[in-house]
Amino acid sequence: MSDAIPMPGGRNRFGSNSGQPLTRRDGVLKVTGAATFAADNHPDRLLHAVTAGATVSRGRVTFLDVEAAKAHPGVVAVITPENRPPLAMDPDEKPTRFSFRTEVLQDDTVRYAGQPIALVVAETLEAATEGARLLSPRYEEEPARHGFDAVDTYEPEAVGVGAPAKVGKGDVEAGLAAATRRVEVRYETPGQYHNAMEPHAIVAEWDGDRVTLDTPNQALVMSTGAFAAWFGIPAENVTIRSPFLGGGFGSKAIIFGGQVLAILAARMLQRPVKLALRRDQMYGPVGHRGATRQEMRLGIDDEGRLTALDHLTTSATSSFEEFLEPASNASLNTYATPALLARHKAVRWDIGTPGPMRAPGEASGSAVLESAMDEAAFAAGLDPLEFRLRNYAETDPASGKRFSAKALRECYADGAKRFGWAGRPLAPGQMRDETGRLVGWGMGTALFHAPMFQAEAKATLRADGTALVETAGADMGQGAWTALHQIAADGLGLAISMVEFHSGHSGLPDGGIAGGSGHTATAGSALHAAGTDAIAKLSELAVGDERSPLFGAGNVGVEARDGRLYRADDPERSESYAEILARAGLSEIGGAGQGARDPASAEERAMFSHGAVFAEVKVDPDLGQIKVSRLVGAFAAGRIINPRLASSQLYGGMIWGLGFALEEQAVHDRRSGRIMNANIAEYHVPVNADVPEMDVILVPEDDPYVNPLGIKGVGEIGITGTVGAIANAVWHATGIRARRFPIGIADML
Ligand code: MOS
Repeated sequence: MSDAIPMPGGRNRFGSNSGQPLTRRDGVLKVTGAATFAADNHPDRLLHAVTAGATVSRGRVTFLDVEAAKAHPGVVAVITPENRPPLAMDPDEKPTRFSFRTEVLQDDTVRYAGQPIALVVAETLEAATEGARLLSPRYEEEPARHGFDAVDTYEPEAVGVGAPAKVGKGDVEAGLAAATRRVEVRYETPGQYHNAMEPHAIVAEWDGDRVTLDTPNQALVMSTGAFAAWFGIPAENVTIRSPFLGGGFGSKAIIFGGQVLAILAARMLQRPVKLALRRDQMYGPVGHRGATRQEMRLGIDDEGRLTALDHLTTSATSSFEEFLEPASNASLNTYATPALLARHKAVRWDIGTPGPMRAPGEASGSAVLESAMDEAAFAAGLDPLEFRLRNYAETDPASGKRFSAKALRECYADGAKRFGWAGRPLAPGQMRDETGRLVGWGMGTALFHAPMFQAEAKATLRADGTALVETAGADMGQGAWTALHQIAADGLGLAISMVEFHSGHSGLPDGGIAGGSGHTATAGSALHAAGTDAIAKLSELAVGDERSPLFGAGNVGVEARDGRLYRADDPERSESYAEILARAGLSEIGGAGQGARDPASAEERAMFSHGAVFAEVKVDPDLGQIKVSRLVGAFAAGRIINPRLASSQLYGGMIWGLGFALEEQAVHDRRSGRIMNANIAEYHVPVNADVPEMDVILVPEDDPYVNPLGIKGVGEIGITGTVGAIANAVWHATGIRARRFPIGIADML
């Protein structure tokens, strides 16, 4: 399926494994239960730990019945701020730039409901759970601070992970003044909490001053350094085994306090300790998508072109740490406008610290941008798709740079055609289905940046003609191991069945972070480069040996294919990898590779994946019940390594978009500030019955600048565009703009 492109050095070509819709290589392991997740590990003499969480949102713990907990049969230790053994690092420091203040029982202050206030360790999970219950904490409680109007805002220095809090160009006020129509609207998005299928877990086992951790992790090697800092040991003394994640979504890229406490308990008790969070313990200590209030001002001229775009987000963070949903930055790269402002304010609530959650910033920001653009299209009397085409950004609106590739026009066209967008009435409330339900159509633009991080990989060609490739990374369920395996096999010029793929262990070369939708591009580039490096060495052996049919061909004149090297100018002359190694008397030959972006290319080009999402909803006019009945997404994301897995990532993202639009929200008690629906019975995420007929179109796109392999990401873009498309469809069905998420029955009254 993939057309061959020359690789750096001209030695190798992109092979035939990429582009194949292979099923997940780990699929059988997972469906048969043979795949080992962190909490499936049960070393000998294992102890179980349970954290006790604060039941108030703000104040101080004045009493814990430690004696009662300790007296419970099976309880081995109770760790509180009073007896917590020292850590090698100041607990308020951060070991990496992806760290947040970690709650490790520093003191008796309660900063949010659910914050760990003690750790109980016991011979059984039941005993530890009962021990934690027997602590019966008492508090000096203070009123919880919560809500956008209840707390003063402040000006943050940065949003997200080090992104600017304020970016702009041109004169927004002049642009608005010059506009013939203006849209000034305010939207709100709620806190959304991580509900990966696998809650966070850790099994920690010490051996002298070395520790082995079974814990799901999106960045294994980086995390060894962070854990090492907590315990004052070298990073190489920390081994993380993280083969499989039952979903990560950003929450498993960071270290949370419970992990540190479990490791500490294991060292203190000199026995392995397991801590596995309950579902309700996911609501606070492991990050969440922070709530936002977003104010949008758009100016439009007579031609339906933007004269100004101002996106102001107020993001909620905790009282003690800052992670601000960078929602306004979603407006920086989508639509052409002479004046642009993306800015942020912040508020501090008595909640757990937010963190990255799938498309952090883009998800909530594009939800509002796409909704406001729909409002502007209607104000301009234009079809929403036509309005977006009139404001198509030929260059990146924020930086003015050319795009590395942008097949968004094709996404609009292919998506609209598949959906049947033509003939959509401009006014809302015009369509009904055969049962009398109101029908509406909406659309949104999807966009996500195409970053690369740093990764390393090794490849080893073996005497029997097979190969081993290695890089440290987890499979989060997205099929990373399959796509990476395909790329690695192509780098080596071998069929995938000839290549063994090792990952999931921090002792392997650093696979980088599986985040930012940049893992396939980054780790894939490293694996491919490792393969081509091994092939280059092999080819040197052959062309320098007069007994080889390739003698004298020179590196540039040799191609690797199906386990053989061929003279480029004479395909009749070839030799197998095994023959070359055997003649040289070698049992194997190794290569190493790195994946990172060429900084010069990033200077010159803006790099994004693009897409267009079209939604149909049906709304019961009497009950206000909203049902998404169709979703079509067309996405252009560079070279697609595995269309089956890429589509399933996009389906998943779009389904999350549906959840964002209509279901997900943490509901806080007004007085106590506690989350009242900290469980997946009441915190709604889409189930099969909610998910309509869906279509994903992979729009071909050749991006020669993003990286030599032309790979962008598909992990996060699906959620962008979808939220707005659904909200816009709800408006088109009913004429109601809820301007808050999730949109529910109450908004339809
Ligand atoms: Mo993601 S939120 O980059 O894991």
